Amino acid sequence: MKEPLTFALAKGRLLDETLPLLHLLGIEPVEPLTGSRKLMFETNRPDVRLLVLRATDVPPYVERGGAHLGIAGKDTLMEYDSDGLCEPVDLGLSKCRLMTATRVGATLPDTGRITVATKYVNVARRYFASKGRQIDPIKLYGAMELAPLVGLSDVIVDVVDTGNTLKANGLEPRELIAHSSARLVVSRVAMKTRYQQIAPIISQLQQWADTNACH
Ligand code: PRP
Repeated sequence: MKEPLTFALAKGRLLDETLPLLHLLGIEPVEPLTGSRKLMFETNRPDVRLLVLRATDVPPYVERGGAHLGIAGKDTLMEYDSDGLCEPVDLGLSKCRLMTATRVGATLPDTGRITVATKYVNVARRYFASKGRQIDPIKLYGAMELAPLVGLSDVIVDVVDTGNTLKANGLEPRELIAHSSARLVVSRVAMKTRYQQIAPIISQLQQWADTNACH
């Protein structure tokens, strides 16, 4: 038998929102996806298996053929920025905004480099370049909000949902870089080699997203 279709999911918040979609697709993991150290899961469908990865690892797994398709945030996809991936469905889940933020009331120097703390280094570089500004990026993996408070950076680039994290840390949102939501992501290779299996998934998820967007 051909290797099963491999579907990469992001652990964390997005995983909880993804489970009902799997159910809709008739894909049921044979054991719970959370609470164990396992990373690969069989499903009720012998032709489908699941990987549970860090959100930032979904794009490289899909692009490099470790998985055929996956679900990833647009923020993560913008940072990964690959031509080898297509995003056939905007699922409209995990909506947030990629924004710049500073200490409340802070003014930025008019010229010269700006120090930017972020896990979205590529996004930040592209955004500030589009404004004619060069940056000194500081790559962080979490707690970006602390950086301006301790003088590590002038600005952060991060995802903002309610804005509570910024507020709780004496920061304020400044410029909107992009809106983000979860996308179905498929490698361009799998789109050709696994089209028969992937096409119904795309159409079912598209239908679900269309219905969901109306409410
Ligand atoms: C994100 C982000 C902020 C927070 C923003 O972190 O990095 O810290 O959410 O949400 P808010 O505007 O509603 O306060 P997340 O909890 O996703 O975890 P992370 O630090 O692993 O990215």
